[in-house]
Amino acid sequence: MADFQALVLSAKGEAAILRPLNAETLGALEEGEVLVAVSHSSLNYKDALALAGRAGIVRDYPMVPGIDLAGEVVESSVANFPVGTRVLATGQGLGERRWGGYSQCVRLPAVMLTAIPSGRDARWAMRVGTAGLTAMLCVMALEEAGLRPGTGAVAVSGAGGGVGGVAVALLAALGYEVTAISGRCDVLGDYLRGLGASALLSREEASAASRPLEKQCWAGAVDTVGGAVLARLLAQLNYGGAVAACGLAGDTAWSGNVMPFILRNVRLQGVDTVACSSQLRNTAWQRLVGDLSDAALATIAAEEITLAELPERAEALLSGKHRGRLLVRVSG
Ligand SMILES: NC(=O)c1ccc[n+]([C@@H]2O[C@H](COP(=O)([O-])OP(=O)(O)OC[C@H]3O[C@@H](n4cnc5c(N)ncnc54)[C@H](OP(=O)(O)O)[C@@H]3O)[C@@H](O)[C@H]2O)c1
Repeated sequence: MADFQALVLSAKGEAAILRPLNAETLGALEEGEVLVAVSHSSLNYKDALALAGRAGIVRDYPMVPGIDLAGEVVESSVANFPVGTRVLATGQGLGERRWGGYSQCVRLPAVMLTAIPSGRDARWAMRVGTAGLTAMLCVMALEEAGLRPGTGAVAVSGAGGGVGGVAVALLAALGYEVTAISGRCDVLGDYLRGLGASALLSREEASAASRPLEKQCWAGAVDTVGGAVLARLLAQLNYGGAVAACGLAGDTAWSGNVMPFILRNVRLQGVDTVACSSQLRNTAWQRLVGDLSDAALATIAAEEITLAELPERAEALLSGKHRGRLLVRVSG
């Protein structure tokens, strides 16, 4: 493999710098049976935290951030991923404990890879990315808890973000009545209705101080923000309803009460994409092919940026100025 470029965090507290690297460097740092030429990645909330040097994300230095990657196998010693296979990888320590997707070349153990679903390409896979996978797993968790179309409204918090946008689109396409919760209803109204939301709710209202039990409003909810929004969603769930909690964009802590659990039989289901099983990942990716429309994905992930633009865009994402998903062109 010739020289390639990667966005490198050399040490804690240092800014990410685009650097030329070579196969020798890669071989010295990483182990795995498969070498992937990465063409696309994406910018997720966790990537933005890593690029901003926030504590708790990057575990080892030097590190190439990027929790998502997609591309083509260029070297392989395993039969299930021969040279030329189009693959993707998300989570599993990418960009945290081992080199991630902001590199034109990555060596990975085969067990971390998923074949890109037939008829789709690396661009599609990274427009969906970890955010889309998370949204799909949240929908599957709600289904597993008994949620069905026609049983009542479903709320999605952080709807202006990547996970939230895909969750709104998926739920609407599956026939649910979706209420999008956003801190930017004034500017994102058309966008969220375009994804299928039938109602909008301001973040301010959704996070107002909550009594232990409130008027029942939601058959289910996808919560990407935590904190006071999660507390109020739980208090407003219908009898037997469920919240799929996957995020912390608002707060990691919330003030909870057992009343919704013991009087309304509600369920709080956590969703994790970093360490979830490959079987669950594969099911979710197959579901995304069928359940997420091309039109919705084009609306959510309308923008493509380069590796060099990532640090600046990470700042914007963390300050809540960005909408939907950002596709990252890594090479080509
Ligand atoms: N569990 C997992 O495996 C997993 C996987 C992926 C992501 N996540 C988590 O899910 C969350 C969303 O990720 P993402 O990639 O979709 O991020 P994102 O694109 O940045 O979206 C986050 C959204 O949260 C809302 N928000 C921002 N600051 C907030 C605040 N202070 N209080 C309340 N809401 C706020 C904003 O939406 P509005 O402006 O519309 O309100 C923002 O667009 C993150 O916390 C991320 O860490 C978890």
